[in-house]
Amino acid sequence: MTVLRSTLDPAGADAVAAREAMLEALAGIGAETAKAVAGGGAQAVARHQARGKMTARERIELLLDLDAHFLELGALAGYGSPFAVGGSVVAGIGVVSGVECLIVANDPTVKGGASNPWSLRKTLRMHEIALRNRLPLIALVESGGADLPTQKDVFIPGGAVFRDLTRLSAAGIPTIALVFGNSTAGGAYLPGMSDHVVMIEKRSKVFLAGPPLVKAATGEESDDESLGGAEMHARVSGLADHFAIDEPDAIRIGRRIVARLNWHKDGPAPTPAQPPRFPAEDLLSIVPPGLKSPFDPREVIARIVDDSDFDEVKPLYGTSLVTGWARLHGYPVGILANAQGVLFSAEAQKAAQFIQLANRSHTPLLFLHNTTGYMVGKEYEQGGIIKHGAMMINAVSNSTVPHVSVLIGNSYGAGHYGMCGRAYDPRFVFAWPSARSAVMGAQQLADVTYLVSKASAMARGKPFDEDGAQVVRTMIEQQITAESMPLVLSGMVYDDGIIDPRDTRDVLGVALSAIHSAPVQGTDAFGVFRM
Ligand code: COA
Repeated sequence: MTVLRSTLDPAGADAVAAREAMLEALAGIGAETAKAVAGGGAQAVARHQARGKMTARERIELLLDLDAHFLELGALAGYGSPFAVGGSVVAGIGVVSGVECLIVANDPTVKGGASNPWSLRKTLRMHEIALRNRLPLIALVESGGADLPTQKDVFIPGGAVFRDLTRLSAAGIPTIALVFGNSTAGGAYLPGMSDHVVMIEKRSKVFLAGPPLVKAATGEESDDESLGGAEMHARVSGLADHFAIDEPDAIRIGRRIVARLNWHKDGPAPTPAQPPRFPAEDLLSIVPPGLKSPFDPREVIARIVDDSDFDEVKPLYGTSLVTGWARLHGYPVGILANAQGVLFSAEAQKAAQFIQLANRSHTPLLFLHNTTGYMVGKEYEQGGIIKHGAMMINAVSNSTVPHVSVLIGNSYGAGHYGMCGRAYDPRFVFAWPSARSAVMGAQQLADVTYLVSKASAMARGKPFDEDGAQVVRTMIEQQITAESMPLVLSGMVYDDGIIDPRDTRDVLGVALSAIHSAPVQGTDAFGVFRM
């Protein structure tokens, strides 16, 4: 075995400064996460509980196996939007009756659980995770349906929610709906499209139109119970497979349904493994504040892989990218980690070869991002940097082993793509609070904008307002700096969550375990590589 060594001195000035900056960033993210946990706020929660109902998080807690893990996903969806942080949905991977499931729960304390554009994005991402990793999907339903004021943003794309449910079912992945309350209009297709449906006496309301709308449409007099109550659906329409007497009973039945699925992961469960030889606490002290200087990703790898054991491949070639093999909670992984920030031709070629090797050995890949992109300049263009970057992007696009990305530091430009950014379908993508991502650095982008506007004015023979252009340059730099922050990107559901660096190993362990619910299969069918 090859045990990594560390030169990190946690008491050194640089490490202390890095730790302070990371803790400060974590506190900011913690404050936003607390907002998501608070749901619709104390008043709405009290009103909900006064009706004898559990909150979305209490329902999930009761559904999970005792002391089982729950990896919350997309907790910060909607940050920076006019909507509540969290997207009125609580979602994540948890263990129910011994089975890893994807759980999606409406939060009825946030605008009646209505689905806004961020709820929709988050829900669709959860469906994608369930489908690609073959995780049974459990929906805890109680929602006012589409958020009516933003219906134009949710109605047409929102059809995919119901499409996904039946596609999951067609792929043999069980879908279970526990209906705790309102599930009307389009929402009625949540149970309608699920394999297993549980409804609760006097609580579940599932109809295409409620009594007022029915009266307006056909003149018929009706009431909630006869139109869509649990008893009616259990005895008459047959939409409910199970009739629960209260919320705990519905959850109990949900757990029994999962227990009877006879569900097996395709791959192994996590195995007991040697922990890393260096403390996870050190992970706070590695990334320099403001990403002003590079750091050695081996310091990170040494603190997340089993026994800090890492067999590096091509360590002397393309040294700005570290590639090698390790195990993480017993699962084999190939790791690609940026070292000096910039990707040159050699790094791109090395990455393409390594990705091919991982596909030959059916080994999942972990990308640790800290890149400012591919190298620019005459020497590098003439040396074929476009061809070589394309080769890496080709490899990452066509690779069929599961990929997981962690944005640790910079993740800019095409380097973000080559390192399996969100558009390259990583099974999971997480960010550290220190991550930054954009088409290019804020200062460079502001400079480019300034230079382009100046050149344009010159070319047209127009006077150039230097002072005005400097103001615009500063504003653009501030805007791009703000947009590159992980909270903003997580708010847009461009990742599956911002994680505490100390949790990286365990978060990746849960992700790898979920990944092994589905077959792990490499390929040799890549696009034509430009050599
Ligand atoms: N879109 C936007 N906002 C909605 C909403 C929707 N679909 N459903 C509820 N809300 C809002 C309410 O306006 C209210 O907002 P406020 O707190 O700012 O006043 C908040 O959510 C709580 O609603 P309220 O009716 O007071 O809560 P409730 O728990 O008594 O009832 C519902 C919840 C969902 C049963 C009820 O609001 C309802 O019937 N909504 C409409 C359902 C519907 O017909 N949807 C069709 C969509 S396809």
